[in-house]
Amino acid sequence: MSAYRPPKIASSEITPQQAYLRRRAFLIGAGGAGMSAAFGSSSWAEGLAATKSNYTVDEKLTPIEDVTTYNNFYEFGMDKADPAALSKDFKPRPWTIKVDGMVAKPQTFDVDALIKAFPPEERVYRMRCVEAWSMVIPWDGFQLSKVLDAVEPLGSAKYVAFETVVRPTEMPGQNATFGSLPWPYVEGLRLDEARNPLTLLAVGLYGETLPNQNGAPVRLVVPWKYGFKGIKSIVRITLSDKQPLNTWQAANSGEYGFYANVNPAVDHPRWSQATERRIGEGGFFSSSRHPTLPFNGYADEVASLYSGMDLKANF
Ligand code: MTE
Repeated sequence: MSAYRPPKIASSEITPQQAYLRRRAFLIGAGGAGMSAAFGSSSWAEGLAATKSNYTVDEKLTPIEDVTTYNNFYEFGMDKADPAALSKDFKPRPWTIKVDGMVAKPQTFDVDALIKAFPPEERVYRMRCVEAWSMVIPWDGFQLSKVLDAVEPLGSAKYVAFETVVRPTEMPGQNATFGSLPWPYVEGLRLDEARNPLTLLAVGLYGETLPNQNGAPVRLVVPWKYGFKGIKSIVRITLSDKQPLNTWQAANSGEYGFYANVNPAVDHPRWSQATERRIGEGGFFSSSRHPTLPFNGYADEVASLYSGMDLKANF
């Protein structure tokens, strides 16, 4: 994100809803067998049909081709096409997530056990990147609050820190010596943000097991915040009484903050945040611009979390 980069790949012409419905129909007919053809094997996907939820938006879904080829995942490289191209050898299973810190019952969860305990539901969310592009993505996941409840946060816990896996042998971007980020990628939320019903741990998208390039096997989705808060391939979640570091703020605190709430009234120092380019709509040169909404359109659900706060100072 050090510089805004236009996409190298033409937007797909696929009608996402049609592709989605076709896939759903196939899955129901086949009882889940063969679901993993496109994305490799998956243990949880057998017979999966994540239940629909009321969390949806009345906007066109971004084609799955764009969602899975236009990515930010610097562990696999800095170009938008790198994560899809260079993540094929990444092994998202077996996988555990350690949840520790200020909790009564620290635990290490196997990702498939979590999926079994908390059956995924579909959440269609807008995603707004700080680089001023956006998508509409049907995620499959469960609320982060369910995992937090299981470990019983102490009354003194105020923040939640997240950490991505470090595996330079499988993640070529972690070997880069110049222009990249320090590893592991880390993020953080206030505990009340983490407990908000919108805050999701995603394990799939478009009804498929989460592709490596989108953060397999489990990534955070916080739809009212800029996309960089959505840390991928999580291996550790730590409760704390101190505000945790987040990678992009550490890299450039003048440009990226801790809160990172989507806010059209607070521009990035190098570009406006008033509008966004909706990926997959129109071509690159004629791409649709949408007005950016406060809290990415989720103000009713989350604005009260920040009452009395100066959102310009806490960007
Ligand atoms: N998580 C890790 N570990 N590494 C990253 O580089 N990029 C972030 C976020 N999570 C990133 C990450 C940024 S800047 C964005 S916009 C989103 O992932 C992109 O998610 P997507 O590729 O699934 O659209």
